Amino acid sequence: MSDQALLEVRGLRKSFAVSAGVLARGERAASRRAMAVDGVTFSVAKGETLGIVGESGCGKTTLARMIVRLIEPDSGEIRFRGHDWLRAHGAELRALRGRIQMVFQDPVASLNARMRVGAMVEEPLAIHEPRLRRADRQARAAQMLQAVGLGADSLARYPHEFSGGQRQRIGIARALVLRPDLVVADEPVSALDVSVGSQILELLVLLRREFSLTLILISHSLPVVAQLSTHVAVMQSGRFVETGPIEQVLESPQHPYTEALIAAVPKLVV
Ligand SMILES: Nc1ncnc2c1ncn2[C@@H]1O[C@H](COP(=O)(O)OP(=O)(O)OP(=O)(O)O)[C@@H](O)[C@H]1O
Ligand SMILES: [Mg+2]
Repeated sequence: MSDQALLEVRGLRKSFAVSAGVLARGERAASRRAMAVDGVTFSVAKGETLGIVGESGCGKTTLARMIVRLIEPDSGEIRFRGHDWLRAHGAELRALRGRIQMVFQDPVASLNARMRVGAMVEEPLAIHEPRLRRADRQARAAQMLQAVGLGADSLARYPHEFSGGQRQRIGIARALVLRPDLVVADEPVSALDVSVGSQILELLVLLRREFSLTLILISHSLPVVAQLSTHVAVMQSGRFVETGPIEQVLESPQHPYTEALIAAVPKLVV
């Protein structure tokens, strides 16, 4: 494994029990499992943006949730900043958890409706930097809300008072307030209409520069991935079928599924 990689993933696998409803008659439920992620290996160097693209159900969210340790893989290895991330515990786990943050697809569901926006953005600081003074915590939250384009008046308001695009900005502020090394964004714009979605993508470009972010950007949309990524992984049925620098993959795709994705992008007729 290389020295410079921020994140190194080896042979990651996750299966789920198949519910009885989808089983053919006569099959025993206990013996049926479906592979959601089927042996995925890749690494991300500091400063890179890895786009992961693939159709619905191919395993993108399952992979993202394993990377941030929301769910445990069946097998495989993840090294983050040189640490054995899947075996980290105690103080090491707490320290590393703050260094990887996730931006969710559905900004509404991922936000606590009864919490004011200020408290919501302060919360990760309260958990991970408990010695920070309250005033400093508030200042950091206000600063971060400003960085994502929301005014100081948003601190005292509730999530339902914001539009979908603004709510995604809140989600991004919450993910960035700890100044993480790695941000995993799972379909950050698919719940938004196209023009609002492109504003969020532009914001991510700005923030990536400002905070020297390393990003994993997950989307079913090749144009979304192509807009931001330095590298791309094409995922199909739980596996990476093609990986490489974005220009290389777009210009000379090696796998038929990649070719199909590229062919499916509508050309703009003026
Ligand atoms: N908790 C779970 N229990 C059972 N099956 C699951 C669970 N989570 C995911 N799956 C299954 O694993 C497969 C991959 O799902 P996943 O959500 O990772 O796909 P995805 O690529 O994120 O799809 P989408 O683009 O629709 O978000 C699917 O077949 C899904 O039904
Ligand atoms: Mg998903």
